[in-house]
This record gives sequence, structure tokens and C-alpha cells, in this order.
Amino acid sequence: MRILGIETSCDETAVCLIEAEGNLGADFTFRILGNGIASQAVAHADYGGVFPNLAKREHGRNLVPMLEIALRESGALNLRHEKGLTMSFSRLRKSLKNILAREPELFERLEPFLNEHARPDVDAIAVTVGPGLEPALWVGINFARALSLAWNLPIVAANHMEGHVVISMTEFLDSHNLSGRIDYGNEKRYIEGNIVKFEFPAVTLLISGGHTELILMKEWMQYEYLGRTRDDAVGEAFDKVARMIGLPYPGGPHISRLAEDARQNNFPRAITLPRPMLNEDTYDFSFSGLKTAVLRFTEKRYMLSEELKKQIAREFEDAVTEVLIAKMMRAVEEFGVNTVVVGGGVSANTHIRLRLTEALAEAGAKLLLCPVEYSTDNAVMIALAGYFHALKKEFAEPDTLRASGNLLLA
Ligand code: KG4
Ligand code: ZN
Repeated sequence: MRILGIETSCDETAVCLIEAEGNLGADFTFRILGNGIASQAVAHADYGGVFPNLAKREHGRNLVPMLEIALRESGALNLRHEKGLTMSFSRLRKSLKNILAREPELFERLEPFLNEHARPDVDAIAVTVGPGLEPALWVGINFARALSLAWNLPIVAANHMEGHVVISMTEFLDSHNLSGRIDYGNEKRYIEGNIVKFEFPAVTLLISGGHTELILMKEWMQYEYLGRTRDDAVGEAFDKVARMIGLPYPGGPHISRLAEDARQNNFPRAITLPRPMLNEDTYDFSFSGLKTAVLRFTEKRYMLSEELKKQIAREFEDAVTEVLIAKMMRAVEEFGVNTVVVGGGVSANTHIRLRLTEALAEAGAKLLLCPVEYSTDNAVMIALAGYFHALKKEFAEPDTLRASGNLLLA
């Protein structure tokens, strides 16, 4: 089955085409045929975070170019024979205009694209309907509705967080070039993968810009929330602390680099931060106090030296990592689990990966993480999550699709 994945929940505009076969578990395989992804980080940098209406407009501009990349890489971008306003096309044009009434930037680009290009060989569309920023989600949803109508394709409504879970359970076979198709002269090779073999129940830790969640999975696609953040998400805390010490958005990767430098140089500890809720008997998290503690520290200083910024970054990263791992390990023990799945943008963090690997090796449990390139938002995770629902024929009625900012997994 060929699935077109669409992701616009936050500040990445992503479209991909994957081919997948088999069922969850043993015989599942997939290939990434084409993968287009445009980051809006630069556009949002001045706001120090994602500005919803700006995200909406940028998605409207970027979706068609990303679709083009995904199809071209897949060898599925073909010109249409009968171009121009044929009867059927002018009818389609009217409906497209209706569907995209609130996305003029998208209509302007999609209409000529559909007029010029033939329907690609695709079986279904998977689009993120939540959680995320509703204005941003709507652009992807309406794009999916427009394509569904033009190409007569069923739509699967995908949950963004399930995308992070599913992609973390996969194993990429060709790990040396993960960004797209690999060309060896005339030979086309695509990134391939399958699902890692593991045992249920599994504990899942989702750490991203909007979420911090500890989940128990007793079976495929069955989720039970154990705990979540009571205030800021981990990624949000990374981004806010980064901003306080003068680093650009998104701050996670910058904090990580500075922290690594502090460790390598063995800088002394100039700041001690709390480990919020570390010893409390709950699986919930809280990161806003940590952020405030950094603020109090920086407020007292007129200027922060480069060394001090690195010391702050390391202490912050250490505090976050300790709390995440302590709660996760408690869940591993309580539920006698042999598998831990970790996903979301923050799981790209080198230090967190290292400490997770050590902690789970010691406990004799398996750690499932995806390649760093696929930890942050992308459309492949959406296409994969969509595939498993498409297999069960769980399709949505296009006109009843709604953006669901706080969509849950269970
Ligand atoms: O999953 P994601 O791409 O988007 C959401 O669904 O929110 O996660 C984005 C978050 C941002 O807060 C970003 O700063 C953080 O992931 N992030 C990192 C790293 N790479 C991205 N945080 C810490 N270390 C990193 N290397
Ligand atoms: Zn995400």
C-alpha cells in the first residue's frame, strides 16, 4: 500500500510517500519513496516560539513544494496529458476553491499543480488531525481533503503522538543516508525499515515541544496514560531556557551543544537546579519551576559569560534527564516491562539518549529509539501510523475531519 503522509501540526511542513506491506509485528516492512520537509524555524525565530497564524501561512506556501519533492523523489511526478480547463477540471477547481477558502496561499499553488500533474500511484492519504496548533492542523487537513477529492483517495486521520510512537518502534535498514532517496547511478534505492521485535507491555516516554507523557502500552496501538506534565513540556522548557541565555529558537539542539561543551571541558558547577517531582509518588512531571529557577539565576546577573551559559545548559539538561529517567525506570519496575519506546523531538538529544541507553542496559530492558533525523516532526511517522489504520480500513469521512488541538491517544 502506498501512503501519502501529511504533517503540519507545528512548524514543520512535511509530505512524504511511503510504501508499506504486512501487519504490525512480524512481517511489516516499509520504504520511504520520497520525503519533503520544510522547517519554519527561521520564520518563528523572532517570536521565540511558534506563532500559530504565521505557521498557518507558511504551511499554505510550503505544502505544494513539499508534495512535489515527495513525488519527484518517488518517481511519481508525471505531467498530465490533457491540461487546461476541461469540464472536469473546472468543476474540480470550484470545489477546491471551497475546500481551501481559508487557505488562499495553498489554493494558488495547488490549483496549477493539479492542472499540470497526473494523479500519482497512491492508495491513501494520512494526515495529522491533532494534537497541535489548530490553525496549522487545518491547513494539512484541507490539503488532504483537496487531494482526496482530486485523486479520489481515502483519508486516515492520524494522531501526531502515535506517529512519534510508531516511528520509534521501527528499525531503519539503511542508516547511512536517512534524508531521502539514495541514487547510485541508475540504481534507485530507498530507505527501508521494519518493526523491531519486542515484547508487550511496553513503557512509552513521549518528549516533544508540546508533550511530556509516560504511557503504558499493553498491546499494539493501545495506550494507557501513566503521567504527563502538569505545566510546560520538556521541549518547551528547553526552548524557554535557551531563550533566557540568548540562544535562538528552537533551543533544544543549542542547549545540547553547550551542555556537551561544559562536560568536555569539565567546567565546575556554577548553578544547582531542582529536580522537580523526582521523589514524588506520581508519574506526572513539572518543568516550569526549573525554567523559573534558571530565570532567577540569570536575572541576578548583568551579563552571562559563554562559560556560564554552558554551565547553565549542562545543569538544566542534567536535571531534565535525571527526572525523565527516574520516572521512566519506576514505571519499568512497577509494570515489569522489558521494552521502552522513546519518541518526540527531545529524544534527538544526545545526552538523554546516552543516559537512557545506560539505564535500560543496566535494567536489561530494550530501548526503542528512531534515528535522530526522524525524532523531530516529519511526515514519515504520520504515514506509518496512518498505514496501520488504513489496514483496518479506519478511514475518515473527508468533510467531517476536524483539527483537534488536544487530541489524546486514549
Ligand atoms: O516533536 P517535535 O519536533 O515537535 C513537537 O511535536 O513539539 O519536538 C520539537 C521539540 C522542540 O522543543 C525542540 O527544542 C526539541 O524538540 N528538540 C530538542 C533537540 N532537538 C529538538 N531538545 C533537546 N535536544 C535536542 N537535540
Ligand atoms: Zn512532534
